[in-house]
Amino acid sequence: MSAADYSSEPGRTTAVDDADLTVLGLETSCDETAASVVRLSPEGEAVVLSSVVHSQIDDHAAYGGVVPEIAARSHVEMIGEVTRRAMAEAGLGYDGLDGVAATAGPGLVGGVMVGLSFGKAVALARDLPLIAVNHLEGHAVSARLGAPVAYPFLLLLVSGGHCQLLEVRGVGDMSRLGTTIDDAAGEAFDKIAKALGLGYPGGPALEKLAQTGGGSRFDLPRALLGRKDCDFSFSGLKTAASRLAQTCETDQDRADLAAAVQAAIARQLGERADRAMKAYAEEHPHRLFVVAGGVAANKTVRSTLEAVATKNGFAFLAPPMAYCTDNAAMIALAGAERLQQGLTSDIDVAARPRWPLDEARALSNPTHATGRKGAKS
Ligand code: KG4
Ligand code: ZN
Repeated sequence: MSAADYSSEPGRTTAVDDADLTVLGLETSCDETAASVVRLSPEGEAVVLSSVVHSQIDDHAAYGGVVPEIAARSHVEMIGEVTRRAMAEAGLGYDGLDGVAATAGPGLVGGVMVGLSFGKAVALARDLPLIAVNHLEGHAVSARLGAPVAYPFLLLLVSGGHCQLLEVRGVGDMSRLGTTIDDAAGEAFDKIAKALGLGYPGGPALEKLAQTGGGSRFDLPRALLGRKDCDFSFSGLKTAASRLAQTCETDQDRADLAAAVQAAIARQLGERADRAMKAYAEEHPHRLFVVAGGVAANKTVRSTLEAVATKNGFAFLAPPMAYCTDNAAMIALAGAERLQQGLTSDIDVAARPRWPLDEARALSNPTHATGRKGAKS
């Protein structure tokens, strides 16, 4: 099986729908080395037995962003210890596992290869099924870690690398309603924070600075005003705000700009979510809106989206903060749900730097960049 047809491959084991499944998850696609053990019941309820996250923030801080080579080396150094801790905290030996799930992409491929290869080694040594998980699918199911959320739901996945609205019917069964045509929201937070002289990662630092600012002083551009679809664009905002940052003289100037940026990002997310909810509601009686990914940790973003959801008659849910940013519990859960359906992977499955969730849509939509290595989002 080639890497390219992995996502449509039906799998090679039989479904397990009558027993608890305990899965070790591994996440190494960016700057967190993470391992977690999650138990999934036949009814679909998830219990996190352990979730260990080693952040590399200190390794990258001096460079103002993630350095891929440093990230990959740090994953190599940490993956064994992080996994050992996750198993110990879960109180399990490897014979207590039913499968091993590892992020296989999208992400920084040097790092992805570390976690995926480690997962393959554990699977081979212990004769366990391997489940290669799309990192975005992990974020998509992450709300189910904190509450018994049933499918289907409308999802806004908003992180450092992605910004998409998706109809989620289950693992491996998602359609994209909209995506960013340029930058992700988290990327805009990070780049503007850098222009404001804030540390890395910029999102949380910008949120903190915005607390002392007022959002109405700076006039920032609004994107894609002539369009009625659910796509996003943050590059114009990023450029304008970065330029304004050079004109800021006082701390109050910077705080006011941070507040204006946060409000503009939350507003765009809210407007597109509003459109998506209206389209989704026409076809679905059960109205649930979920926001996931690192930017879902932002309180202004959360409250804006919650208000839009309430206005449209949708229940609103966001994962617990610890499961918004990168973690391995979401990978373990996506892996367990796949294992439940018999969707396991061959041992030669490849790491993928790019891997859209709704691949058919990403490849067929010419407004989105496809790049040399395949569709981006
Ligand atoms: O999901 P995540 O941990 O990694 C990716 O898969 O990208 O998301 C990281 C992103 C970064 O851009 C970070 O600045 C942003 O989430 N982020 C935030 C906040 N916490 C994390 N952005 C705004 N406000 C926050 N509180
Ligand atoms: Zn992520």
